[in-house]
Amino acid sequence: LSDGPLKGRHVLVTSGPTHEPIDPVRYIANRSSGAQGTAIAAALRDLGARVTFVTGPAVVPPPDGVQVVRVETARAMLEAVEAALPADAAVMAAAVADWRVAEEFSSKIKKVAGAAAPSLSFAENPDILKSVAQSIDRRPRLVVGFAAETDDVLAHAQAKRARKGCDWIVANDVSPGTGIMGGAENAVTLITAAGAEPWPRLPKDEVARRLAIRIAEALG
Ligand code: C5P
Repeated sequence: LSDGPLKGRHVLVTSGPTHEPIDPVRYIANRSSGAQGTAIAAALRDLGARVTFVTGPAVVPPPDGVQVVRVETARAMLEAVEAALPADAAVMAAAVADWRVAEEFSSKIKKVAGAAAPSLSFAENPDILKSVAQSIDRRPRLVVGFAAETDDVLAHAQAKRARKGCDWIVANDVSPGTGIMGGAENAVTLITAAGAEPWPRLPKDEVARRLAIRIAEALG
């Protein structure tokens, strides 16, 4: 561990998408690459933190020098997060699926000539950020959530901060055309109790570095 302002601190980072199984060979996923979460974990490590990195099946490989916990589903991510607590700070960058298939088929759904197409019903997944931020006995001192929105980014992000009970929200516009989802750059607004701070469009590594510095300052 490097000697930095986060030496002796434990920071939990979630990253990547989740995969929600339909049957043994099929799943529902989203376009998260894991790039921003991975960069944040690396930046926290570079400031000396001990990092637990709970990741769904991401495109980008996890950074060196962090404790990697690989999961597939939202439910497994919640379990891994709970097992990793206590932490001084938690940064929830994962794109967790809001819903899972209510009843996973135990064998492959077969296409039968002439038969109707199957239909799926969904169940709500646990909200990991909310459960960590509202934990009574093991709430990290600083809980940071993300808000990837396509419309009314600021209003939605501010409402989300209140609803989830987290300290900060890193808000970004993931509309098609911004090139942010899966891209190398990010344009975020940091929302804290003090207000909204727009950051310039920066490489994801630089967003991560600035966020890690702010986390170090907040933890003192
Ligand atoms: O509610 P929404 O998905 O927009 O909130 C985004 C934030 O909440 C992100 O920080 C994400 O990691 C977190 N989240 C979570 N568990 C969920 C849904 C979102 O931790 N089930």
